[in-house]
Amino acid sequence: MSELTVIRWEQDQEGIVTLVLDDPNQSVNTMNASFTADFEAVVARLAAFEGLRGVIITSAKKTFFAGGDLRMLSAVGPEGAEEFFAGSLRLKSALRSLETLGKPVVAAINGSALGGGLELALACHHRIALTAPSSKLGFPEVTLGLLPGGGGVVRTVRLLGLADALLKWLLTGRQYRPADALEAGLVHELAADKDELMAKARSFIATHESAEQPWDVKGYKIPGGTPATPALAAQLPAYPANLRKQLNGAPYPAPRNILAAAVEGSQVDVDTAFVIEARYFTELVCGQTAKNMIQALFFDMQSVNSGTSRPTSIPERPVRKVAVLGAGMMGAGIAYSCAKAGLEVLLKDVSIEAAERGKAYSAGLLDKAVARGRSTAEQRAQLLARITPTASAADLAGCDAVIEAVFENVELKQRVFQEIQEVVDADALLCTNTSTLPISLLAKGVDRDADFIGLHFFSPVDKMPLVEIIKGEGTGEEAVARAFDLVRRIGKTPIVVNDSRGFFTSRVIGQFINEGVAMLGEGVDPASIEQAAAQAGYPAKVLSLLDELTLTLPRKIRGEARRAVEEAGGSWQPHPADAVMDRMLDEFDRPGRSGGAGFYEYDADGHRIGLWPGLREHFTRAEVQLPFEDLKERMLFAEALDSVRCLQEGVLTSVADANVGSILGIGFPAWTGGVLQYINGYQGGPAGFAERARELAAAYGERFTPPALLEQVAADGGAFKD
Ligand code: NAI
Repeated sequence: MSELTVIRWEQDQEGIVTLVLDDPNQSVNTMNASFTADFEAVVARLAAFEGLRGVIITSAKKTFFAGGDLRMLSAVGPEGAEEFFAGSLRLKSALRSLETLGKPVVAAINGSALGGGLELALACHHRIALTAPSSKLGFPEVTLGLLPGGGGVVRTVRLLGLADALLKWLLTGRQYRPADALEAGLVHELAADKDELMAKARSFIATHESAEQPWDVKGYKIPGGTPATPALAAQLPAYPANLRKQLNGAPYPAPRNILAAAVEGSQVDVDTAFVIEARYFTELVCGQTAKNMIQALFFDMQSVNSGTSRPTSIPERPVRKVAVLGAGMMGAGIAYSCAKAGLEVLLKDVSIEAAERGKAYSAGLLDKAVARGRSTAEQRAQLLARITPTASAADLAGCDAVIEAVFENVELKQRVFQEIQEVVDADALLCTNTSTLPISLLAKGVDRDADFIGLHFFSPVDKMPLVEIIKGEGTGEEAVARAFDLVRRIGKTPIVVNDSRGFFTSRVIGQFINEGVAMLGEGVDPASIEQAAAQAGYPAKVLSLLDELTLTLPRKIRGEARRAVEEAGGSWQPHPADAVMDRMLDEFDRPGRSGGAGFYEYDADGHRIGLWPGLREHFTRAEVQLPFEDLKERMLFAEALDSVRCLQEGVLTSVADANVGSILGIGFPAWTGGVLQYINGYQGGPAGFAERARELAAAYGERFTPPALLEQVAADGGAFKD
C-alpha cells in the first residue's frame, strides 16, 4: 500500500483500527486530493484485513474534519466539470465502501463536524459527539452557494426524512450543538471528554459483530416517505413555491439544487441518488455564484478577521472597562455586546432613568435567550452585573475606552467628549459611533486626536456582525490597533476605512437608495422598483428601507455635504433622487414610517399597509417601462461603482474590507460576493462590467461612467484583489 499522508492507521490487538485524521500541512483536515487518495487506500486495506473487528474514525486536530477544500473548489471552471464530477463520484464510492464493509464503523467526533466533516461521519454506522462548547455540527454549504456533495444530501434525507433534512439542516446551513444533533437523530451518543468518546466507540464495536449496509437493504424506508407517499406528495409542491417566496426571485442556485437533489434522490436507489447529487454539486461548483460567495464569505472574511487591516507593529493592550455614552437604541446595544464579551461597562445618559432604560434593553434580550435555552439565569445575572448605569461623568474614572452614541449632532458630541476626557484614563481610546459625521471634524472637540476614532456599529447591534472602524486625519496607528482588537474582542468583524462623508458603508448604501428613488421620478412603477430590489437580492426593498430611515435623514446629510463642497470652492452635483425626496417632504409631507406616512401607508400602530397610491398619481407612470434588468443593475452598479471610487480615493484600502463590509453591513446581495467581487465575477470580468457601466451611463446619466481605477483594472485584464 502507498504511504498515507493525512490519515494515520492505528491498529490494536483486538482487530480494531483507528483512523486518525491528521493532515500535517494544515491546522484542519480537509477533503482534498491527498485525503481522497489516502481514504481510498485505507478502505482497500480495511477490506483486505482478515481479523478486522471494527473501525473508529477520529481526528488529531481541534475539529473533527473541516470539509471541502474551498481553494480547490473555487478553482474549478466549467471546462473542469467532467473531471470534477468523476472525482466527486470517486470519493462517494470510497465512503460507500466503508459503509458496506460489513464491520461496525464509528465516528468519534472530537470537535466540530461541518460540511464534509459531517458527511464523513454520516457514512459511519454510529456517531458519538464530544460535547465541547465550541463543537458544532451542520451543513454550511448553502451559505457558500454549494451543496453537501459528499453524500450529505442523500444520507441526511434517508436518516431524517425529506422535511427535516431540508428544512432544518440542508437549506438553512444552521450549525447545531451536539445535544441538538442527538435530539434530531443525527448522532447517537454524546461524550463529555476524549476518554469517554473513545471508550464508547470501542464499546459499540465490542457489542456489534457486524454492521448492516444501510439505505438499500430490502424493506428500508425513508422516514416520512418518498414523493410517492400520498401525504408527502400532497405537501411537496409547496416546497419549491416556498423556496421561491423566501428567495424573492434572488439568484441563489444552491437552495434550488439542494431541493432537487434531495427529492429526486429520494425516489431512487442510493447509488443512483449519489450520482444525482454529484451532478447538482458539480453544477454549483462550476458556477459563478459559489465562487463569489466563497471569495467574500470565506477568504475575504478570514483575511478581514485575521487582521490584515490592523497595524502589525502594535502589541495588544486589551480593553478592560468601557464607557458607553448615550443609552438610546445604539448605546444600549453596544453596552450589551461589550458586557456579553465579559467587559465591564459604564452606561451613561443624561438621567439615571434613561441609563437604566438602556440597561433594561439587555435584560430584555437575555430574558428571551434564557426562554429559548440559549442562556442560563446565572449567565443572565453575571452579564447584567457587568453593566453599571449612571448619569454622572465622575463614575467613568478608570475606563480605558469610551464609545459615544449620543444624538447625531456635532456640538453635542464634542461637548460630551469634553465632559469625560479628563475623567477617563489619560490614554483612553475615544470612539464615536456616528453614522455620518466626519471623524476629523468631531476630533476637533478632543485634546488627543491621536486616540480619537470612529467605531460605526449597525442596528440592531446584538445581531449585526460588522463594525466599521474609521480613521480621522489625526487618528494614530495605536488607536486603530486598539479599536480593531476591541471589535474582535466583542466577536464582531472589523473593517478599517479612512474618513469621508458617510465613510464607506453609509456613503455606498446612499447610492442604492438614491438610485431607487430616482427611478420613481422617471416614471417607473413603484412596485417594480421594490420588486427589482428584491430580485437583485437586497434584503430590504429600497423604498421601504428609506421609509424606515426617514426621508429627512438623506436630506440633512445632503445639505451638510453640499455646504462642505461649496465651502471648499467646489460645485455641488445634485442627484436626480433629490427632487423626488423634496417633493415627498415639502409637497406631500410624507417623511417615512416614524412620521406615519412615506412611500408606504401605515396604520395607527405603524404597520405597513401598502404603497401609497398617490405615488402613481404624482410621479406619472411612464408609458414605456424600462427593462427590468436595468432596474436591478442600476442599483447594484450604483453601489459597486461608488465602491471603486472609495478605493480610488483611499477611503477603502482593501478589497476584502469592501466585499465583507458591503455584505455584512449594508445588505449588498451575498450572491455577488460583495461590491468588488461583483465586478470581478460579472460576465466578461471588470472589462465586461465597465462596458455595461458605459451603456448605463449613456442611458441614465454620468454617474455610471466607469471611474479611472475601473478602466485601469479592466485594461490590465486583471481583477480587484488585495
Ligand atoms: P437615540 O436617540 O436612540 O439615543 C441617543 C441617546 O443619547 C439618548 O438616550 C439620549 O438621552 C442620549 N444623550 C443625549 N445627550 C447625552 C449626553 N449629553 N450624555 C449622555 N447621553 C446623552 O439614538 P441612536 O439611534 O442610538 O443613535 C446614537 C448615535 O448612533 C447617533 O450618532 C447615530 O447617528 C448613530 N448610529 C445610529 C444608527 C441607527 O441605526 N440608529 C446606526 C449607526 C450609528
